[in-house]
Amino acid sequence: MINTEEKINKRVFAVAGPKGGVGKSTISANLALAFAEAGSKVTIADLDLGAANLHALLGIRDTGRTLDDFILKKVKNLSEVLIKTEVPNLSLICGGSQVPNIANMPYQQKVKLMNHLIKLESDILIIDLGAGSSYNVVDFSFIADTGLFVTTPEVTSLMNLYSFIKSSVFRRLTFHFKAEKAYDMLELLDKARDVEANPHLNSMEKILIEAEKVDPESVAGVKKLLSEFVPHIIVNRVQTKGDANVGNVLQGLLQNYLSIHSKTLANLPEDTAVKKSINKMRPVLLDNPSSEFSNAIRKLAEDLTIH
Ligand SMILES: Nc1ncnc2c1ncn2[C@@H]1O[C@H](COP(=O)(O)OP(=O)(O)O)[C@@H](O)[C@H]1O
Ligand SMILES: [Mg+2]
Repeated sequence: MINTEEKINKRVFAVAGPKGGVGKSTISANLALAFAEAGSKVTIADLDLGAANLHALLGIRDTGRTLDDFILKKVKNLSEVLIKTEVPNLSLICGGSQVPNIANMPYQQKVKLMNHLIKLESDILIIDLGAGSSYNVVDFSFIADTGLFVTTPEVTSLMNLYSFIKSSVFRRLTFHFKAEKAYDMLELLDKARDVEANPHLNSMEKILIEAEKVDPESVAGVKKLLSEFVPHIIVNRVQTKGDANVGNVLQGLLQNYLSIHSKTLANLPEDTAVKKSINKMRPVLLDNPSSEFSNAIRKLAEDLTIH
């Protein structure tokens, strides 16, 4: 879909989670700070169009240029809307407010934005994807080499995230089969999308059994694709031992129903320091560097640097 050869050598993280309020922006902002503090040149992009708030989390009141200026073609290059923050090494692309919803972004615009994002010069790019699970949101997660999938311990948040990852897997498979012109497999996938009508296709294992019948040659490709997609789960606002088990529950669902191997990267604690810092418009990592949440974020940044 996009020419990844043009990708400048950098790490790209997409922070995803279809439910609003689970902590995507808080995690994006503080993770970006942790990387910047450790010496990396970091860019963070707010793609929560229409509800952009990343700048506020980073203490920026007057946004100046935003993604709107790029999307509405007031500037030519995405790099022209980069804003420096008070933290050395950390730049921000503010989300727009005039372009109402990423879900409605036309295809050409989406591809153009993706191409400009991957060409930005920095060591690390973090994309705060915002809520929702439209194809466009899913597609933006594909430009990342690491998807960070955020949930809270609540069942609704967990199930939303499971569905998001499922549609992401199906979307990847659809692109793959289209490129391979594997029309029987595309038809099979379409059937599998409607689990109620086709309960015999309610897991990837069962889909693959059916695939062996309709297009056996495609099975190896599917397995390879599935093995390459490793969602990194972050459970936020953890308070109890039971909460901390949510990552395992999601990993089990992904393994059993989608044949996807995932890993739980972090359990981030519920911490009153987070809200206090947001009210002061200062990221918690700066406002309360030794808080439990700040320590957990720094540990997460370290783990992501190693992997
Ligand atoms: N670990 C946490 N502990 C306490 N409050 C949190 C934590 N993470 C997020 N919050 C609260 O949740 C609210 C929503 O977080 P936000 O990052 O804006 O979510 P999202 O970007 O997913 O919509 C924040 O205003 C913050 O007060
Ligand atoms: Mg947000």
